[in-house]
Formats: sequence, structure tokens, C-alpha cells
Amino acid sequence: MLRSLQQLPADPILGLSAACRADPNPGKVDLTVGIYMDEAGVCPVFEAIQMAQRALVEEEVTKAYLPAAGDESFNTGLQRLVLGEGSAALLEGRVSSIQTPGGCGALRIGAEIVHAAAPDARVWVSDPTWPVHIPLLGSVGLEFRTYNYYDPATHGVNFDAMVEDLKNAVAGDVVLLHGCCHNPCGADLTLPQWGVIAEMAERQGFTPFVDFAYQGLGDGLEEDAAGLRLLVSRLPEVIVAASCSKNFGLYRERVGAAIFVCSDAANARAILSQSQAAARRVYSMPPAQGALLAGRVLSDDRLGAIWRTELSAMCQRINGLRSDLRRALEAQCGGDFAFIEREKGMFSFLGLSAEQAQRLRHEHSVYMLDSSRINVAGVNARNIGYIAESVAKVL
Ligand code: LMR
Repeated sequence: MLRSLQQLPADPILGLSAACRADPNPGKVDLTVGIYMDEAGVCPVFEAIQMAQRALVEEEVTKAYLPAAGDESFNTGLQRLVLGEGSAALLEGRVSSIQTPGGCGALRIGAEIVHAAAPDARVWVSDPTWPVHIPLLGSVGLEFRTYNYYDPATHGVNFDAMVEDLKNAVAGDVVLLHGCCHNPCGADLTLPQWGVIAEMAERQGFTPFVDFAYQGLGDGLEEDAAGLRLLVSRLPEVIVAASCSKNFGLYRERVGAAIFVCSDAANARAILSQSQAAARRVYSMPPAQGALLAGRVLSDDRLGAIWRTELSAMCQRINGLRSDLRRALEAQCGGDFAFIEREKGMFSFLGLSAEQAQRLRHEHSVYMLDSSRINVAGVNARNIGYIAESVAKVL
């Protein structure tokens, strides 16, 4: 039976990271997977998480399963972080959430719920979007439509084209939006543009599904949530897939949450029961470690303050790297790279062809995706000159 299956090509993101690891060139540069790296090229553990971890080791008395919906202080803390302390939806009790294995688990549970509620729902995804969105949501049986988003000519959002496409989204459809720090392009909607999407959702009846994996890494925790909170303030239903991989540095611990803003408290309870059943049939129970750590940070004022300071320093460093990279590329290549400074979060397209991105890998050991998506957080003072020189050579 197993012999009937063929070997698949490597994952377009993880495969390149593996190729970089295998590259013996000591000067190699890894700009592939979206992980935050510090000046030393290390993906650090937050001090606040280390403190929570030490306390957990001291106090933990069991490894019994978590409840089906996950850790309660994690769920309530994350709801407040994402939706805001004073969120009317939260105060009205019409929000439910389930702890999931990473943001991917949240996307999958969100998709399961959408499919259960509306099996014929079409999911509208931005062009481009994170490549994993399609297999993750598609494996549930949902169909896709694409909306225009990024314009390579302007290195920005083609909002008019996006609106034109989304005029075709109807009640029972889902529009997948990147809450902030768009992956892969880094170009985000402005707050007035979020307002237009909210109006369209109100008028046409589609449901926004917000992938929220980078809160705190664009402009700040509150600023990055403004668009999503605007949707929640105006619409009866919003689905959010939140991830703690990047903003708590808990990547391998796999922690996130599917958050459902529902029209009333009874429906929120119904959706919670549906999410628990969906989780039970997909992976049964969530892993504990990451949620227990993030839950502690979110419920302890002192740890929370330390974490916010650390996250804000990361965010500022990424924005500083964006300015430095713009200057280095303009100095080496000429041309206008101001878009790198305008874009947000970990990712930007450099605007190279696939062939140029491949030459960077093969001739210079500078690894980025074929789309020329780079992880800006992989740039540092030691490699920035080499990156800019290498790009100039393939241009
Ligand atoms: C990325 O886009 O590089 C990250 O979100 C990691 C992943 O799982 O692909």
C-alpha cells in the first residue's frame, strides 16, 4: 500500500531553511523561515518566558491533560490581548476561544467550524498569501477564491482592486485577512481601509477570518490590533486565528488560539462545544507547555511588563533593520527600496525574480524564498553589507 506513494518536493519554506542549514559556506545567510533572530543570529527565549518556565518547573505537580478548550488563564489572557481590555464583545460574553497547537491549529479549527456551519463556503485569500493557508484550510474541504492584494509595481496594497474582487464575496463566504505584518509581503491595510472592509462585510454578509500571527511586531501590540478590533466593533461575527509563536517566541511549543466573536453568548457557547469536538477529532488535546508559559505571562503584571518591554525592543529592532536594509540596498544597487521601510513585520519581497533569488542561493549562499520574500529579522550588522552586495550582483 505505502509503495503507491511518491516522494513529494520539499516544503517551499522549510525546505529552503534545511538547504541553508546544509550549506557549508560559513558566510551563508538564512532569510527563509519567519523566526526572530537577534544580532548574534540566535532566536532567543524571552526573559519573561524563562522566568515563567522556572516558576512552572518549581510548581508543576501534574502532567495530566489540559481541559479540552485548553488553559483558562491563557484563553482569557489572549482574548484580552487580541480584542482589547474594554472590548464590548468580551464584556457581552459573546466570545469563545480554544487553545490550539500554534496559529496553524487555530486556522484549522476555524476552518472546521466554517465548514460545519457552511459546507459550501468559499474562502477568499489575498494574492499572495502564506502558502500554507491553502493546504491547511483546503484539507477541511473548503473552496478558495483569490482577491487582488499586493501590487509589485508599487510595492503596496492595490486596495481598489481588492475591493473590486471582494464585491463578489457573499453571505456564507469567508474572507481571510492578515491582521498585521502581512505574510509574505509586509504591506498592511490602513485603518480607513479596514473600515471599508468592515462596511463591505456588513453590507454583503461575509465573515472575516483574521490570521493574527504577528501582533506586536509591526507597530506595537495595540496598534497592530486596531484593524481587527475595528471589525469586531462593527460586525456580529469575526473569527481570529491567533499565534504566540512569534510574539512570545514560543515557536516549537505550538501555542495559539482560535477565537470566535459570535452574535450572542448562547452561540459563543455552541461554537465552543463545536471547537472542542473539532479538536477532539483532529488532534484530541492541546499541548500544555507553551500555553502554561504564555498564560502566566499574561496573568502576572510583573512578567507581563517584562514581556511587553522585550517585545517592543524586538519590534523597534525590526523597524531599525528595515531602515538599515533600505539604505544598504540603495547604496549598493541604486534604485528605490523605500518600500522596505514602509512595510511591517518580518517579511518583505525584495522584488527579485525567482531566477535571481535562486542565483543568490547558489552563487552567494543568501537564502530567501523564490518569491524574494525575506525574513527581515534575519538581517544583522554582520550580514547586511554582504546581503546588499550579493543582491547588487544578481540584479
Ligand atoms: C513563515 O512563513 O516562514 C512562518 O510562518 C513559518 C512557517 O510555518 O512557514
